Amino acid sequence: MTAHIIDGNAIARALRGEIARKVRVRLSGGRAAPGLAVIMVGNNPASEVYVRSKRRDCAEVGIRDIGLNLPANIGASQLLAEIDRFNADPSVDGILVQLPLPTAIDPNTIIERIRPDKDVDGFHPYNIGRLVVRMPLLRPCTPYGAMRLLESTGVSLRGQHAVVVGASNIVGRPMALELLLVGCTVTICHSATRDLAAEVARADVLVVAIGKPEMIPGDWIKPGALVVDVGINRLADNRIVGDVHFESACERASWITPVPGGVGPMTRAILLHNTLLAADRDRP
Ligand code: GUN
Repeated sequence: MTAHIIDGNAIARALRGEIARKVRVRLSGGRAAPGLAVIMVGNNPASEVYVRSKRRDCAEVGIRDIGLNLPANIGASQLLAEIDRFNADPSVDGILVQLPLPTAIDPNTIIERIRPDKDVDGFHPYNIGRLVVRMPLLRPCTPYGAMRLLESTGVSLRGQHAVVVGASNIVGRPMALELLLVGCTVTICHSATRDLAAEVARADVLVVAIGKPEMIPGDWIKPGALVVDVGINRLADNRIVGDVHFESACERASWITPVPGGVGPMTRAILLHNTLLAADRDRP
């Protein structure tokens, strides 16, 4: 079998086009452009690349982005004060604090300070809780983007056995909730999982988010599986690879996301979707 490739670039481009059209409708109705505050602390090189891309996407669809770069040695209380300022600013519909933060700052305290209706990352316990009780509103971008990619295959997900490898707050856990929401039977694997290969072999739908280059070999994958690779790993030779060994996985999967060009662009497109959703709810 040679897998079909799920083209994240094309699907994200179509979604951005749809969002741009909806923003134009807002503007032509005399309403303000949605506003997104992007806060970056320090200068983690990977984060700088992501933040630049997010801001470029905003420009493309007509979202007003407000960038705030803070020094790495800022205290948590100063960062909280900046969040309070954006929380109170009616021209700001969404607030994003780029992660990871410097180790001296507890990310949970920061995330909880963002007003849930401006939490366009969908990381606030309120928004995660809404996903738990099947009332999703602002949904974590990567898992929701991954669902859109899976749905683009046209394969019915209901009743499928989904295996999520990775149990982080921002990808693995909400990913499992998204899969549960569409009727999958879900297994979550993590660092204490006893036999990862055996769990992966049972997956009709496999989502991998562990941040280890090419950790999942193709011969673990169930023939015909749908595979979503969330990993973005840069190798010593500068190549970017996922958490799944792509070439060998293509011989087993029926559908697979490439890296780059799979989940990454979709995550960013969902951020725009969430920002527009927040604006439409707060400033209709
Ligand atoms: N760092 C890695 N992924 C993300 C994300 O989706 N949102 C934020 N804020 N930071 C990240």
